[in-house]
Amino acid sequence: MICNLKNTNHFLKTKISFTPETAIILGTGLSELADSVENPIIVPYSEIPGFSVSTAPSHKGRLVFGYISNHPVVVMQGRLHYYEGYTMEQITYPIRVFKQLGVKNLIVTNASGSLNEKMYPGSLVVLNDHINFMGTNPLIGKNMDEFGERFPSLHEPYNRHFVELANSIAAEHSIEVFNGTYAAVTGPSLETRAECIMFQRLGADLVGMSTVPETIVAVHSGINVLGISSVTNYGNIFHSSSHSQEEIRKNAGIAQKNLLTIIKEFLYRLHLEDEKCQ
Ligand code: HPA
Repeated sequence: MICNLKNTNHFLKTKISFTPETAIILGTGLSELADSVENPIIVPYSEIPGFSVSTAPSHKGRLVFGYISNHPVVVMQGRLHYYEGYTMEQITYPIRVFKQLGVKNLIVTNASGSLNEKMYPGSLVVLNDHINFMGTNPLIGKNMDEFGERFPSLHEPYNRHFVELANSIAAEHSIEVFNGTYAAVTGPSLETRAECIMFQRLGADLVGMSTVPETIVAVHSGINVLGISSVTNYGNIFHSSSHSQEEIRKNAGIAQKNLLTIIKEFLYRLHLEDEKCQ
């Protein structure tokens, strides 16, 4: 992998002339933020050595480098999922690439089903913890010592300062956000009623098919993570009708506007914090 990473980074450095400080992964139905990138440099995954191409509908599959709120970013418009048949290494490869490019923070977004009646479809949840129920771990295999230690602590996978900052930005903009625990499953089938009840009893507020692999690899390499989930549907505990992909996308669209406000302001605050440190 190291050799591939060198090629990927060499290629990307020929495209950009700045160091992105924050990487943003845009989940299902949340790709609009990429349109807010100033002076965008767009690189399709298909052109990047070492990158795999997403097969999920609505995932565009490109990196957008540039600035949001004066803050240097790289946006992943479209992610890879385990249910598409990719390995954990393929899914999390971009995080290793970002680390080597100099990225310090990761904002990871996703669409999820709610197991907590308070967290309604169309609302946003700032993640404060997760349960890895994918049956595997992206760090399995020889440890990449140059990135981090063999047994990284996940006592606080989502940076507490980031959670508080996102909460206060939401409050200032009169946007209702919740804080909660995300359980990651492989999918692609949605959860049964019994599974929803099990996850709820285990302490999960949300269930989804992504985010945890990227977060684990980011934390392993010392990247600070902010996770935000857009609730697209209730799990099967609250109603018996199945939810369509159309419903999921519609509710992600409702949450998207608020998500954009929070992320733009969040990046602005990071920019201010950076200026203070200089
Ligand atoms: N379950 C798992 N993943 C999801 C869901 C869900 O209900 N909604 C959006 N992604």
